[in-house]
Amino acid sequence: MANDTNKFQAIISHCKEYGFIFPSSEIYDGLQAVYDYGQMGAELKKNIKDYWWKSMTQLHDNIVGIDAAIFMHPTTWKASGHVDNFNDPMIDNKDSKKRYRVDHLIEAHAELMEKDGRDDEAKGMLNEMDRLLAKDDFEGLKKLILDRGVKCPISGTSNWTDIRQFNLMFATEFGAVSEEGDDNKVYLRPETAQGIFVNFLNVQKTGRMKIPFGIAQIGKAFRNEIVARQFIFRMREFEQMEMQFFVRPGTQKEWYEYWKEQRLQWHLSLGLPAENYRFHDHIKLAHYADAACDIEFNFPIGFKELEGIHSRTDFDLSRHQEFSKKKQQYFDTEINQNYIPYVIETSIGLDRMFLAVVSNSYEEQDLSTPEKPDSRVVMKLPAKLAPIKMAVLPLVKKDGLPDIAREIIKDCRSSFRCFFEEKDAIGKRYRRMDAIGTPFCVTVDYQTKEDNTVTIRHRDSMEQERVPVSKLKEMVLAAIE
Ligand code: GAP
Repeated sequence: MANDTNKFQAIISHCKEYGFIFPSSEIYDGLQAVYDYGQMGAELKKNIKDYWWKSMTQLHDNIVGIDAAIFMHPTTWKASGHVDNFNDPMIDNKDSKKRYRVDHLIEAHAELMEKDGRDDEAKGMLNEMDRLLAKDDFEGLKKLILDRGVKCPISGTSNWTDIRQFNLMFATEFGAVSEEGDDNKVYLRPETAQGIFVNFLNVQKTGRMKIPFGIAQIGKAFRNEIVARQFIFRMREFEQMEMQFFVRPGTQKEWYEYWKEQRLQWHLSLGLPAENYRFHDHIKLAHYADAACDIEFNFPIGFKELEGIHSRTDFDLSRHQEFSKKKQQYFDTEINQNYIPYVIETSIGLDRMFLAVVSNSYEEQDLSTPEKPDSRVVMKLPAKLAPIKMAVLPLVKKDGLPDIAREIIKDCRSSFRCFFEEKDAIGKRYRRMDAIGTPFCVTVDYQTKEDNTVTIRHRDSMEQERVPVSKLKEMVLAAIE
């Protein structure tokens, strides 16, 4: 692979070609930063979700999971600070009175430059834009717009206002009648966390939970992102896997360190290489946090945030207490005290985790020999995450071999996902299974009829061994546990 940009493009194409990810509503040319998961992608995504859910809930006595609604009372978002602080920059043209998202405006200008054959210049401008956006440098962005002669497509002038903030939440209307004003306005949640905070006491009381304890949740979140050109890295509709861990005030530092370590170990337990991970400690903290870091992953677009660990103090529960006028306190029988718990949050994007797993697994291999050129694309997915665990392939379509293959599948399919294929030469079928990351291919041949053995082929080494049919299920189960 020539470079990481090529690798990223190759992964995007591969995801489409093999049914992992499609652009949303593609027949209408897609919708920017929105994607659909295909038949393979949906399985892989679900397996990641299940792995996270099990590690949080089943493997911790003191963490339970919930599934809160996407719509929440609008005051939730005033209390959380999202109405006032969750913003992105916009600019107005004084002649046309038209308002633009700064990134859209610059991107449209870049497209014009590309049409003029000024590709490098356009790329340079977009990189500069991303750099300035990341720093909230609005003066720098306005200067970029003026220096590059960006014009309003309607008035044709560069008579721009200063850049102002614009809220990233998607709003819609509740109820049958659309009325003027904000009365009916509800938001599509921009994070799942608030669904946990507003249910803190419901869960604590009904579950008889004692601090420290956690509430986990997986669900959709929506953000009207402004930098949205990075495949599923930054989407407008995405999924989060979040856990809020409620602790006694004063103990948050040790729990923060605990969860940093736990979460890194979770990633490594999937067999993802440690060198692809690093912590990035936040120097500039959000107003609600007393410590925060990102777990960064080495994506083909560089080291970038995959997960956030935040020590959120008692900010969220205190704000909900203030706005709802309902006490959000816990009585700690060990110290005979009432308090609003402090919270350590672990928050990972499911789609970003998907991208991390896929980009780490994707390999183009040259298998040429002096006699014959050959290559393969293999997805070395962790076996427990692979969409299909075992393909069963009759060597030929006759002489009862397909029936034996189907019998093997019948015996295994309730334990793990199997796949039957009889078309094409066996080598071609192996390649197709490599491309979707199937860890085991089982071939049924004439010897199977004689001694009830099959060959099992290991995806990564391509080694094959002869094993009794009766051993197959336990071999696969051992690899995916
Ligand atoms: N509740 C805290 C919170 O939402 P965040 O850092 O804004 O914190 C947490 O988001 C995680 O959600 C990120 O680390 C990232 O993995 C994922 N995420 C955030 N915005 C995303 C987007 N637009 N597309 C895909 N994933 C996103």
